[in-house]
Amino acid sequence: MISSVLPTYNRAPLAFVKGEGSWLFAEDGSRYLDLGSGIAVNALGHAHPALVQTLADQAAKLWHVSNLYRIPEQEALADLLVEHTFADTVFFTNSGTEAAELAIKMVRKYWYDKGQPDRTEILTFEGAFHGRSTGAIAAAGSEKMVKGFGPLMPGFRTLPFGDHDALRAALTDKTAAVMIEPVQGEGGIRPLPDACLKGLRDLCDQTGALLVLDEVQCGMGRTGKLFAHEWAGITPDIMMVAKGIGGGFPLGAVLATENAASGMVAGTHGSTYGGNPLGCAVGAAVMRIVSDDAFLADVNRKAGLFRQGFEGLIAAHPAVFEAVRGQGLMLGLKCKAANTDVVKAAYGQHMLTVPAADNCVRLLPALNIPDADIAEALKRLDAAATEVERNAA
Ligand SMILES: Cc1ncc(COP(=O)(O)O)c(C=O)c1O
Repeated sequence: MISSVLPTYNRAPLAFVKGEGSWLFAEDGSRYLDLGSGIAVNALGHAHPALVQTLADQAAKLWHVSNLYRIPEQEALADLLVEHTFADTVFFTNSGTEAAELAIKMVRKYWYDKGQPDRTEILTFEGAFHGRSTGAIAAAGSEKMVKGFGPLMPGFRTLPFGDHDALRAALTDKTAAVMIEPVQGEGGIRPLPDACLKGLRDLCDQTGALLVLDEVQCGMGRTGKLFAHEWAGITPDIMMVAKGIGGGFPLGAVLATENAASGMVAGTHGSTYGGNPLGCAVGAAVMRIVSDDAFLADVNRKAGLFRQGFEGLIAAHPAVFEAVRGQGLMLGLKCKAANTDVVKAAYGQHMLTVPAADNCVRLLPALNIPDADIAEALKRLDAAATEVERNAA
């Protein structure tokens, strides 16, 4: 008999009732060190006092009003995002997938209004993940995600990851846009080298194609800059954001230049919930903390502690771990053992990690994880690796 919850997830037999900082508490009172942060969502850990206070204050005042009216909390968060990024304008969604949908619509409308309605092809890359709507699965094009869900939305072409020649051949003055994650998340924490992102920007400038960055997972301080593309010293035309921006409240956004957004006039897009006062109040509280230079410097310092520890773990467990990759606190341990065995052994050590493609274990801790919890995480990962070795013997 089918379960009352549609069985689309492969869930671990764990349930949590409370969270505090980098810790989650299970029903039986035992606590787990959370290095997944709800897959990069709880950017400031669980129950951050400033976020709890902001949510409670706003909840007592106003939860929802329609976008038929001005929403001052939405305007305040948009102002903050515009102040701290390349963007001139922001649209708020409830998720990353919805941000991807709008980014696609924005690209199409841009070329339609420029008198080139057939300029619709968006180039994407193998291993990409942009969400699970019919548009987003067509964009990512991975066999696993699209099987059984055809016919796919046309207008996308998937290129091999890191193949410059293929990109140069495909990116012409007929290309509408290129959509890419600066660091692939689900694809196995695969960063695009800075030189590639710079080259991509140049190619887009030469052809007029719009550069759309998906920073749903790698944005909001995760890599040690407010947004990952800042490492390469370039700016996109359109950017998708979600996950960390709400610190746990469902919130996403599309940021764009005035030029890229020029087609999106009144009546072309909307959302019932997107940009509601509750979400935007929390989002502004997150932004105020994460956009601070000292906070971001500390993310990089903490990343150094993790990396140092990982090098030791790789040396100590060469049959389990192969390499570390990623940037800031978006870290991937490429495994030699099955990544799912490592994740399972970490559960045994009361620690949560997340598997990713390419046999990788993802570590996406809270950006403010205390140093003591980093030391504890490394200890538990060491014990988990020992357990994997013991099971293999
Ligand atoms: C890079 C990227 N884009 C888009 C999405 C989709 O976001 P959501 O699950 O909020 O719809 C995700 C989610 O994991 C993601 O990692």
